[in-house]
Amino acid sequence: MKNIASIDDLRTLARRRVPRAFFEYADSGSYSEQTLRANRTDLEAIKLRQRVLVDVSERSLATTILGQKLAAPLILAPIGLCGMQHGDGEILAARAANAAGLPFTLSTMSICSIEQVAEGTGQPFWFQLYVIRDRGFSKALMERAIAAKCNTLVLTVDLQVLGQRHRDVKNGMTVPPEFRIKNVIDIATKPAWAWSVLNAKSWTFGNISGHVPGMENVNSLAKWTNDQFDPGLSWKDVEWIKNYWPGNLVIKGLLDVEDAKTAVKLGADAIVVSNHGGRQLDGTSSSIAMLPRVADAVGNDTEVLFDGGIRTGADIMRAIALGARACLIGRSYIYGLGAGGQAGVAKAIDILEKELSVTMALTGVNKIADIDGRVIEGGAAKKKVAKVAKAKAPKPKASA
Ligand SMILES: Cc1cc2nc3c(=O)[nH]c(=O)nc-3n(C[C@H](O)[C@H](O)[C@H](O)COP(=O)(O)O)c2cc1C
Repeated sequence: MKNIASIDDLRTLARRRVPRAFFEYADSGSYSEQTLRANRTDLEAIKLRQRVLVDVSERSLATTILGQKLAAPLILAPIGLCGMQHGDGEILAARAANAAGLPFTLSTMSICSIEQVAEGTGQPFWFQLYVIRDRGFSKALMERAIAAKCNTLVLTVDLQVLGQRHRDVKNGMTVPPEFRIKNVIDIATKPAWAWSVLNAKSWTFGNISGHVPGMENVNSLAKWTNDQFDPGLSWKDVEWIKNYWPGNLVIKGLLDVEDAKTAVKLGADAIVVSNHGGRQLDGTSSSIAMLPRVADAVGNDTEVLFDGGIRTGADIMRAIALGARACLIGRSYIYGLGAGGQAGVAKAIDILEKELSVTMALTGVNKIADIDGRVIEGGAAKKKVAKVAKAKAPKPKASA
């Protein structure tokens, strides 16, 4: 991809290629977007320590998460409606992740189904679960994920009710898109996108459509989906899932130390410090602001992963320095997908990896395991925390 140097460039290109309703769905945050902005500004405020004359000729980004070898400390985050940024988006992104030696996480609210991604990639992936009112359906989803050889379940717990994104309301964001005149004109000016979606394996929520009786019609499907988020969800449901799911359990969407401790007590093999990319509780802290406290509290007992605002290799280094073992990326790869399909996702991964490698060199680090508080200004005191967080040996688990 020519003239693409950064994730920001991919975002600019995606904005041109993806219909406005879907680009803004991915780009925005909830309500006044304070938390969305804080995720970026708090990361950028962390200054790295420039070090010189350290031999950095043997650098490696490789690491191990949940017993799985990763080429870099990166995981593709679950993204609902990923396949609306580009036709077959989930399959293309999973292929790019596989080629790069990184895990891909399929959302419950994906466009391509579990089975389509399994068939389209032929490799194991992680599956993200929303526990909905219909617990039987959640159980059936887990069974389908087990059948597809997913060995890791990412249970997202920060979406019992939906935060509102104002731009979605204004754009009439629905799946498939609401046919308002302005949407039709917009789609007509995005022929490559329209072609990719018209030729895609699925146009609607692939994991749900055809699996819930009477939900073949688009309108009834959309209503069913909205009604299924469950404000009654509780830690008891986590216990139930822990007992049911045979593979690794990752609990995603924790910002609070007490919640993180509970998740560990209930047997989480890893947690993701996350505020859903600033899409849920507006006004809460940035993920990076909470990471050191959470890593300090539970980093010795579980693997701590991080997401929220990662757009550069320097951001990945900042998160690892503050106690994360690896970072999930959401928008960074979604922009790549919208900009150029599988090649765009591969480009996003390549950009982040090269930036991380240069950042390691210029901070005097050769290995991911050597990144700790010393690489950031005033971070020496954090050294102990980061070391503790990384001291735990990864727990290998048999595939489900
Ligand atoms: C368009 C979009 C859709 C998302 N859908 C889901 C989802 O279905 N399940 C989930 O657990 N998280 C979802 N997330 C949150 C991401 O998994 C991740 O936490 C977030 O994107 C990280 O922030 P970043 O985009 O700044 O990297 C979504 C995020 C975006 C941007």
